[in-house]
Amino acid sequence: MKAATKPGILRYTGGQRANHWLTAIMFVLLATSGLAFFHPAFFFFVHLLGGPQWARILHPFIGVVMFVSFFILALRLWSYNAIRPVDRQWVKQFDDVVMNRDDVLPPIGRYNAGQKYLFWVIVVTMILLLLTGIVIWRSIFGLFFPVPLHRVAVLIHSISAFVLIAGIIVHIYAAIWVKGSVRAMTRGTVTHAWARHHHAAWYEEMTGDRSIPHARSQRRSDPRSDPVL
Ligand code: HEM
Repeated sequence: MKAATKPGILRYTGGQRANHWLTAIMFVLLATSGLAFFHPAFFFFVHLLGGPQWARILHPFIGVVMFVSFFILALRLWSYNAIRPVDRQWVKQFDDVVMNRDDVLPPIGRYNAGQKYLFWVIVVTMILLLLTGIVIWRSIFGLFFPVPLHRVAVLIHSISAFVLIAGIIVHIYAAIWVKGSVRAMTRGTVTHAWARHHHAAWYEEMTGDRSIPHARSQRRSDPRSDPVL
């Protein structure tokens, strides 16, 4: 991946963005049709897939496409989402995150702890949705699973879908809240100012610029190491 160009720093390649948006479109179709099956108040959503019969037929196939698409994306981004000690510090200082006091936070790599934990929530819910989805896909696998297992699978499928939908609402809110993030997934690049401010350690890695006062922010994030505090 080419590191930094003058107009911006490359964060996602064209392939990664296509992969992300395919997953996102599949997610919207699945969440809306799934909600339509869940409660009559959401029935009108079936029209996105051409009516109730088509929604019922297509939902599981679209689920498989979303799972495969997400897992290709997840494999590409897996290593950046490993949880490190610095992430626990970020969680402890969550009030500084909310108050936008980035200068007192430990330097953040490509992703912050919130993004990483959400990534793992998505991975787990996706696996549960696939496994339980196979059990309740009656038209194809109906003969393989007993009714009690089917009932448990429906429950786990619904809970996983609820957690995933809530997680994606947080994901979209955060993408809009942190100004300058959405262009990372549309144009592929972020500004130098955005990277310095939100992902200082990643910025250093991409540009070689060592001018960010890391030592200061690390000392300030751990009062025990700063005798002045
Ligand atoms: C539908 C609206 C969505 C919007 C507006 C959106 C927006 C974004 C943006 C702006 C980023 C870049 C964040 C950054 O690099 O700091 C991103 C990353 C990402 N998105 Fe989405 N997204 C959406 C849906 C989804 C869905 C449905 C999924 C998966 C089910 C998803 C999974 C991811 C993942 C895995 C990343 C990389 C973050 C990481 O690896 O921790 N997104 N998204």
